[in-house]
Amino acid sequence: MVVDDRPIAPFNRRECAVAETHPAGGYRVFTLVDEQGPEPDPGQFYMLTAGDHWQGEAGRPYLPRAISVAAVTGNPGALRLMFLIDEVGPGTRLMAALEPGQTCLLAGPFGRPFSMPKALNPKAAGAILVGGGIGIAPLAILRRALVKRGVPSRTLLGFRDRAHSGGVDELFGCEETRLAFEDGSSGHRGYVTDLLLKVLAGDDPGGAVVYSCGPPMMLEAVRSICAESGTACELALESPMACGFGACFGCAVPKTDGTYLRLCVDGPVVSGDEIASAMAGEAA
Ligand SMILES: Cc1cc2nc3c(=O)[nH]c(=O)nc-3n(C[C@H](O)[C@H](O)[C@H](O)COP(=O)(O)OP(=O)(O)OC[C@H]3O[C@@H](n4cnc5c(N)ncnc54)[C@H](O)[C@@H]3O)c2cc1C
Ligand code: FES
Repeated sequence: MVVDDRPIAPFNRRECAVAETHPAGGYRVFTLVDEQGPEPDPGQFYMLTAGDHWQGEAGRPYLPRAISVAAVTGNPGALRLMFLIDEVGPGTRLMAALEPGQTCLLAGPFGRPFSMPKALNPKAAGAILVGGGIGIAPLAILRRALVKRGVPSRTLLGFRDRAHSGGVDELFGCEETRLAFEDGSSGHRGYVTDLLLKVLAGDDPGGAVVYSCGPPMMLEAVRSICAESGTACELALESPMACGFGACFGCAVPKTDGTYLRLCVDGPVVSGDEIASAMAGEAA
């Protein structure tokens, strides 16, 4: 791939057209057309560099930013990749400002995806998806993959308030989705983990599999609930990422055995028993 006759690193980095953008609650959704990449698996992410002002006069943002793919449609050669953006800093602000007709540099898909339920637990009767905030993005593409394979799933989503609940109707509009809002504006008043405890109490934990993505404190609560009930679980973690493909070791997260994993290649999806705490990515 070349831009202005110059090859751009890493080797699979490519320029993709923005096909569509729109607001979604407090978030922003945008779709890129990827003409060269393979189809991503649920849980994988891309390293994105958006807009003309990246590495601008103030030097920020400098590095690309890791963003999970929330949905994929089309076929290789013309894949449409949908992303859900929470504007927390200069990189995500530029992504949220993208308009159709502009382009975005993209590398990926990167990382270890979610496993299918039977691979985690041969007795699994279905899946329980637990998401919070912007962490609902990788669960959306996972849910579609489970539906396609005929795997029954229940989705539990938690948000602080309405302003931080973008993408729910568009990505999860189905009867099996239960919502929790901390401010009580809809659904259960409280945490999504309250819903998980209720669901697991009515289930045989030996036949359940939990998948989760969200804020570190929520993920840690899910990890410990699953550890205590003997439920298999996979968590999609976040940590600061500079390269996204294993070269810089900037995303190191401690494992239970005292060694480290590189979250961009050994994750972002990890098994609950691989890590001592889901808060570790923050401190790394
Ligand atoms: C595998 C992976 C997948 C991700 N998927 C998505 C995604 O689908 N959508 C998305 O919007 N983001 C996603 N992120 C998070 C995103 O990459 C980071 O938030 C990134 O640092 C944002 O860049 P920025 O320049 O906008 O903000 P930065 O300058 O990096 O951060 C600005 C400020 O916001 C704080 N901050 C950073 N991240 C968060 C956060 N997640 N929540 C609250 N505050 C934060 C920082 O501490 C800092 O104070 C993902 C991260 C990883 C590792
Ligand atoms: S982000 Fe560079 S090694 Fe993981």
